[in-house]
Amino acid sequence: MKKTWILVLLCIATVAVSVRLMIIENSRPEGTMDASQEVIDCIMTRASVRKYKPKPVNDSIITTIVKAGMASPTAADQRAWHFVVITDQALKDSISDSFQWMKMVEGCAFAVVVCGDMDKLFDGDREDGGFWVQDCSAASENMLLAAHALGLGGVWCGVYPNGDRVEKLAEILNLPNILRPLNVISFGYPEVPVAPKDKWNPEQVTYNEFLDSRGQK
Ligand SMILES: Cc1cc2nc3c(=O)[nH]c(=O)nc-3n(C[C@H](O)[C@H](O)[C@H](O)COP(=O)(O)O)c2cc1C
Repeated sequence: MKKTWILVLLCIATVAVSVRLMIIENSRPEGTMDASQEVIDCIMTRASVRKYKPKPVNDSIITTIVKAGMASPTAADQRAWHFVVITDQALKDSISDSFQWMKMVEGCAFAVVVCGDMDKLFDGDREDGGFWVQDCSAASENMLLAAHALGLGGVWCGVYPNGDRVEKLAEILNLPNILRPLNVISFGYPEVPVAPKDKWNPEQVTYNEFLDSRGQK
């Protein structure tokens, strides 16, 4: 008798949860998911952060950020990349001293160098400016967004396709020839909050076939 009552109660609870889920599903605006506004806010409020608090970032957060990088799409799902995580102060100093535009690396908690792996290119991809650049770029933006979501900030510092920078960075990090560094991304807790820029410009958007300013093909 007691068992029957428990079963009846379980059935009622299951139905109640299902109905609640159906209501939530139907009340969502078309094309949105749970937490969608948080994701959009994260994308819209990201800004390059170049000054950091002298506060370490724990290993599990570093791993989460690199995992977010590896979650990005890649051409032919080839994942022709390698991530060099830099926590060593001497290496950070060396990068900062060697590149005029990377002075912030000295004071960052850690940096990631996103490299293309020339041994993993798919048949037909090119070493020079191939799809690997897009793969590594997608991974880089994923990491910047993940860092921002976790309360950190970062900045992408360009390396490839500048041959001198590629060569110098490869020398500092003792990179094997097959790894081509696309960038250095420094991360850390922002010293002060950095306001995002509003870059929305509808004039840079067109729909369908391109028409000139007079509306002609
Ligand atoms: C390919 C690339 C190279 C960049 N190189 C540098 C760099 O060497 N040093 C730097 O301070 N910022 C660098 N940046 C960051 C840009 O300056 C920054 O993204 C831009 O000013 C827009 O600002 P925001 O990121 O705050 O929106 C680079 C960004 C990209 C995408």
